[in-house]
Amino acid sequence: VPIAVFVSGNGSNLQALLDVERADPSWPACIRLVVSDVPGCRALARAQAAGVEVFAARPADFPDKASFERAVLAKLRARQVEWLILAGYMRIIGPVLLSAYPNRILNIHPSLLPAFPGRHAVRDALAAGVAETGVTVHFVDEGIDTGPVIAQRRVPVRPGMTEEELLAAIHAVEHQLYPEVIRRLLTRHEKGEDAGGGLGIGQR
Ligand code: GRF
Repeated sequence: VPIAVFVSGNGSNLQALLDVERADPSWPACIRLVVSDVPGCRALARAQAAGVEVFAARPADFPDKASFERAVLAKLRARQVEWLILAGYMRIIGPVLLSAYPNRILNIHPSLLPAFPGRHAVRDALAAGVAETGVTVHFVDEGIDTGPVIAQRRVPVRPGMTEEELLAAIHAVEHQLYPEVIRRLLTRHEKGEDAGGGLGIGQR
């Protein structure tokens, strides 16, 4: 199944997907394109090192969000991309991409949504003093971190843990969970069993 991964930063989740694609012949996804709104970000270097094609453009160089997304969409269509995988993409997906990929856009977020949406989920969880936080994979809708949840995994917060330590623990879980969920969904997609998007996909 041809996919595109959307990135804005470090790209450790992209790396996890590149690694499983290289190592595992039963992996159902093929990363056809990596899309970034931040030219020069580390994630793009990871894609290039793996020989994956990239499209990087600054949305500010376009008249509006819709024209930026139309440029992205043209690249996606040219590569027959069927699913969009957001991995540290720090921009809200607009109507152009949402309507082109209904129930085919995933995001990973570093909290147990609906707790701690937004950019500072890990810091916010620490500040709130919760005993556990976690990772959520969800379908993307027009909101910020609001679409239907597909899978969640807990991460305990130990007393005195620093933000750096908690981030590392969360990343380790993300790098397991995202490939697992993508494998499950795209295997169903390959078999033609995924009509209806999120319906029937259990939480864990
Ligand atoms: C991850 O924590 C993800 O949950 C959030 O952004 C971060 C991206 O990290 N959406 P990386 O760029 O994949 O290393």
